[in-house]
Amino acid sequence: MDEHIRKSMIKKIDHIGIAVKNIEEQLSWYRDVLGFELLGIENVESQKVRVAFFAIGGVHLELLEPTSPESPIAKFLEKRGTGVHHISYEVDDVQKAIDYLQKNSVQMIDIPRAGANNLTVAFVHPKASQGILTELCAHQHEH
Ligand code: CO
Repeated sequence: MDEHIRKSMIKKIDHIGIAVKNIEEQLSWYRDVLGFELLGIENVESQKVRVAFFAIGGVHLELLEPTSPESPIAKFLEKRGTGVHHISYEVDDVQKAIDYLQKNSVQMIDIPRAGANNLTVAFVHPKASQGILTELCAHQHEH
């Protein structure tokens, strides 16, 4: 691997995605007990999920609630129950990061697409990411 590119590609952990059955049932823990700021709740129609974002120390928590039994999150909950679903790493440019990973024989399951919280996101193939579902994301900047 090209060390220089590798070191500069990932900027930070942007968020941790957590699969939940019901966002409202989780609010008393994350918002009221832990005191995290609730940034908002939104629907991501394409993924059939409702998403709540919390801020803590420059990192976000993303609670993912399925809005349909067909949602990938519904399938995850069936198999694994409530728990950590993915880690999302921030990059400057999702397509460039994908190009780099594919050059290094890393398989993707995604192309860059719109995610919650004004992010462009893409998932790495779970077989390529050592058992941790890994998302690349970039913040969409206003021009
Ligand atoms: Co995410």
